[in-house]
Amino acid sequence: MSSGPDEFGAKPAVLRCGRCGKYVDWDEAQLQVICSCRPRLPLPAVLVHEASDADRALVRELFHRDFGRTQIVAFGEVMNVEEIPALVATMHGDVSGALAYRLHGDGLHIVALATDPMWQRSGVGGHLVAEAELLARRLGLARLLVTTTNDNLPALYFYQRRGYRLTGVVPGSVVAHTGNVIAGFAGIPVRDEMQLEKPLT
Ligand SMILES: CC(C)(COP(=O)(O)OP(=O)(O)OC[C@H]1O[C@@H](n2cnc3c(N)ncnc32)[C@H](O)[C@@H]1OP(=O)(O)O)[C@@H](O)C(=O)NCCC(=O)NCCS
Repeated sequence: MSSGPDEFGAKPAVLRCGRCGKYVDWDEAQLQVICSCRPRLPLPAVLVHEASDADRALVRELFHRDFGRTQIVAFGEVMNVEEIPALVATMHGDVSGALAYRLHGDGLHIVALATDPMWQRSGVGGHLVAEAELLARRLGLARLLVTTTNDNLPALYFYQRRGYRLTGVVPGSVVAHTGNVIAGFAGIPVRDEMQLEKPLT
């Protein structure tokens, strides 16, 4: 499959500032340590369902806005998130996040996960991942697999907080696909694929 330099560009995507609530591009975001002072906000319920044909356009828009593309490279393969199954999260009936997945060996591979910046830190990502784990259990699979990039410290935090462990690093994998070095989260060069998994034992 041919690819232009931007098709695999790891960014831009959009995050939301945890302090002021402004939307922020990847390279402008920063990491900040906080304690348990941040209050738990009462927020609307998050509902998760399998994407229907009617959801497809919104899911595509969400991934495209967050990742700047719909093609994802992981485990040496190129996947188009438009062509694989997805779980959709809604709040008040509006799409707030999505998780694209496929079956890969004895695992369920989370190919992409994105929460609308408007609803980040509202439990959307957590609910989507929990639902993917339930699905994997129902299918009798042994593990969940996910990849991210070296710069994506929020995702590395998010997954490890939820029991995922680093299982592999593919140095230079992103650069090999993009052909250049892109500035990712906080301006950190995006170079490597980080592989994580969670066994379902
Ligand atoms: C990574 C990402 C998917 C996380 O999604 P999210 O919807 O913000 O995740 P959650 O809301 O479930 O969890 C985030 C934090 O919000 C907190 N939170 C959840 N509900 C909350 C509430 N009602 N009040 C206060 N905090 C809350 C969670 O506790 C969690 O913090 P913790 O891990 O320190 O405990 C999201 O940041 C994103 O879309 N990033 C860009 C794309 C990306 O990097 N995807 C992953 C690589 S594939």
